Amino acid sequence: MTPRAAPPIRVHELTRYFGSFCAVDHISFDVRPGEILALLGPNGAGKTTTLKMLCGLLRPSEGSAWVAGIEIRTQPQELKHKIGYMSQLFSLYEDLTVLENLRFFGDLYRVPRNRQEQVLERAGLQPVRNELVRNLPSGLRQILALWIALMHDPEVLFLDEPTAGADPQQRAEFWNTIRSLNLPTIVTTHYMTEAENADRVALMNRGRIIALDTPESLKQSYLSSWNLFALQGPLPQGIREVLQGIPGVLGVISFGRDLHVRTEKSVTLEALQQRLLSRGFSSLHLKPIEPTLEHVFFAWVEPVPEEAR
Ligand SMILES: Nc1ncnc2c1ncn2[C@@H]1O[C@H](COP(=O)(O)OP(=O)(O)OP(=O)(O)O)[C@@H](O)[C@H]1O
Ligand SMILES: [Mg+2]
Repeated sequence: MTPRAAPPIRVHELTRYFGSFCAVDHISFDVRPGEILALLGPNGAGKTTTLKMLCGLLRPSEGSAWVAGIEIRTQPQELKHKIGYMSQLFSLYEDLTVLENLRFFGDLYRVPRNRQEQVLERAGLQPVRNELVRNLPSGLRQILALWIALMHDPEVLFLDEPTAGADPQQRAEFWNTIRSLNLPTIVTTHYMTEAENADRVALMNRGRIIALDTPESLKQSYLSSWNLFALQGPLPQGIREVLQGIPGVLGVISFGRDLHVRTEKSVTLEALQQRLLSRGFSSLHLKPIEPTLEHVFFAWVEPVPEEAR
């Protein structure tokens, strides 16, 4: 039972154990009408497990959620018609054409044939209707899988890494499409730059939501807690270790040939320069920079594995 003005998605202390391992650990948040929430986190953070519970595919161990007014624990079968779900390894039939895939999934959901045709048109897939899915570029496959998830006119949308493997232009097009739908949406991603497109971002790590806010507010609160400097490369050997040993330096991460240094607020540009000078490092190019979501994320989940970038 939800109050009348309840948000389209309300998650309350949602938890899932696999044996004694806690994959999703008492997470709570709302998604508002028309809002896109990005669930951003590394491998194993618990993103897919969260979406599966919200789709009624996996039973929560504790807590619950309401999706389009439906309580996921008690009415999972009623959820199916209210939600669109694009799973992480979404499966289209590769040896069927675009139209045949739409027909197959459309008939399964009892979507009228004229609606199936409309979807083909809206998705911009008319020109490739008779192409085998196997021959489509990955961006178009993702668009087709999205529209298959939308065919039955869901009230809420769940997308699990929908743009994995797509190039930046295809990703931008995909985001334009989901933005135009104006549906409450949860989208999971590994891509920090992609999460910047969302209305709000939930940073997830080891089953927990460690921060949740608009991309702008996440970055602002970073700057109200810490300073961020870029040291431009190429850099002399051993500089990372020296930086890490300076009092007030909290984190050092590589960005290409540069190093980005997170410090306590008390560490100024001049103080950092002085410290480096006193250690024999002169004529280095050091400047304050604005954080991106990547910096925000790594500030929460340091130490940073090199292969994560
Ligand atoms: N059926 C299962 N049985 C046991 N452990 C599981 C099961 N499903 C997931 N896990 C574990 O739960 C944790 C969270 O997995 P999940 O798939 O939700 O992560 P994710 O954030 O989606 O990761 P990725 O970015 O790789 O897709 C992982 O450690 C995973 O190994
Ligand atoms: Mg996943």
